[in-house]
Amino acid sequence: MKQNKPKKIQIMIIDLGSQYTQIIRRSLHYLGFHSIILSPAKSLKWIEENKPKGIILSGGSASVYDADAPIIPKAIMNFGIPILGVCYGMQWLTYINDNNSVHKVRDGKSYGPVEISLNNKSPLFKGLRVKINAWSSHGDSVKRVPIGFRVTATSKEGKVIEAIECLSKKLYAVQFHPEVEQTEDENIILNNFAEKICNCKKDFFQKDVIKEIRENTKKILGNGTAIIGVSGGVDSTTLAAILAPALGDKLKAFLIDTGGMRKDEIRKIKEMTKNVHINLEIIDQYKNRFIQKISQSIDAEKKRKHFRTVYGEIFKKVAKSYGATHMIQGTLATDLIESGSTGKSVLIKTHHNVDLDLGLKEIMPLSDLFKFEVRHLARLFGLGELVASRQPFPGPGLYLRIIGVPVSNELLEIVREADDEVKKILKKHKLYNKISQTIVALLGVNTVGVKGDGRVYGYSIVVRTVETVDFMTVKGFYLSPEVCEEITSTLVKHPKIVRVFYDFTPKPPATTEFE
Ligand code: XMP
Repeated sequence: MKQNKPKKIQIMIIDLGSQYTQIIRRSLHYLGFHSIILSPAKSLKWIEENKPKGIILSGGSASVYDADAPIIPKAIMNFGIPILGVCYGMQWLTYINDNNSVHKVRDGKSYGPVEISLNNKSPLFKGLRVKINAWSSHGDSVKRVPIGFRVTATSKEGKVIEAIECLSKKLYAVQFHPEVEQTEDENIILNNFAEKICNCKKDFFQKDVIKEIRENTKKILGNGTAIIGVSGGVDSTTLAAILAPALGDKLKAFLIDTGGMRKDEIRKIKEMTKNVHINLEIIDQYKNRFIQKISQSIDAEKKRKHFRTVYGEIFKKVAKSYGATHMIQGTLATDLIESGSTGKSVLIKTHHNVDLDLGLKEIMPLSDLFKFEVRHLARLFGLGELVASRQPFPGPGLYLRIIGVPVSNELLEIVREADDEVKKILKKHKLYNKISQTIVALLGVNTVGVKGDGRVYGYSIVVRTVETVDFMTVKGFYLSPEVCEEITSTLVKHPKIVRVFYDFTPKPPATTEFE
């Protein structure tokens, strides 16, 4: 029988601690190129043994002047393998070639979109427009170019150096992040680097992913029985739909009604999962346990941890009742990165479903993928647009949307109704599907208002609408004054709601959720 040749890893990515390192790998994968992420310490030996066709240095939060800055072996430049430095990677390449070239910026760090002018003679930028919007997230910047290098992109009317290259040494560097969706290059920069500069060959296609997910999961499960918690969101629903036909009776799908779900959600999820042949059991007897535990704190991290504790307890009970050996999770790469479970990047938020110690073997078939890929899979798999473009909702749900006061049944009801009203208005104006995520939260700080002839000392609602593709970065989706006015006048009809705020802050610095 013909054996499939193992795929050769073509690009090595050196992880210097960026939140976006995994996105570099997935973007390369999406483009058809296999790559590997390694720490700086392991990089040199790996290059010697595997001779990759290209090397990418990720970004990172350090400054090249920090005492504990990542130490990259200089010898990686001795092999004649093309190197692309991204953000910190660019600063390192510059610094290593000229020790006075990096400018340590204390104020005025650059986070967010920048308009960049590209020099199309650079092989890295072939096929791109002369100006593109790119995503920057850096403290230090390059103030002068080492000998042998030339500037290939700038911003702020030529004042800021955004990209450099040294063709003879095959060194390329960009200050912005070509891997994130906010950089409007449609992945051309990474594709140019891999295909044109490193001569990599495309050997991976998206349709292979479903096959791979099924085969790998079956293999790991063996004779065991798996449970999968379905939330109705894109990730878990897509995963359950992919696995249900492959695993049959060996897969038990259930949904825990936490009490933090949106209005009418359980009924809709039941319907949707039935359509894609998932046999879903609803577990709804533990809502009060969630409220009682989470109401013990108003601190964002403590609330997340309490949610996770109760979620874990219930999961355990359910698993026992099914005699399960494994649990299958729809956890994405983004969740793992932001929970600090991969590489060097810092913990931003505890996620309810990461590293739960349930005494079951965990299978995370999507842990390699980003949101844009899961949506793509949902479509490939024939799940309706409803699933594919459904707005995401965090596992802890409305519990994360009551800010500054202990959660209670009453507040959950207020925020659930407000969320539903906002959704109806956005749908009426045909905006809902253009927005990546809408967050309606209750601010528990009382402020004074007047209703009728009386003084009211009540709550505020904050409406946050954002657009993004990968949720690693987001930008505000600005609502028109008319839409804001309609939302405000609808929400303040509630006797306890006095004000409505609107929040269009990008991520970074603000995360998508408030907590
Ligand atoms: P942040 O707020 O971290 O959110 O920018 C990024 C995306 O993840 C969702 N999110 C969660 N999803 N469990 C989830 O399943 C969680 O604990 C959780 N926290 C945030 C968030 O709604 C956004 O879509």
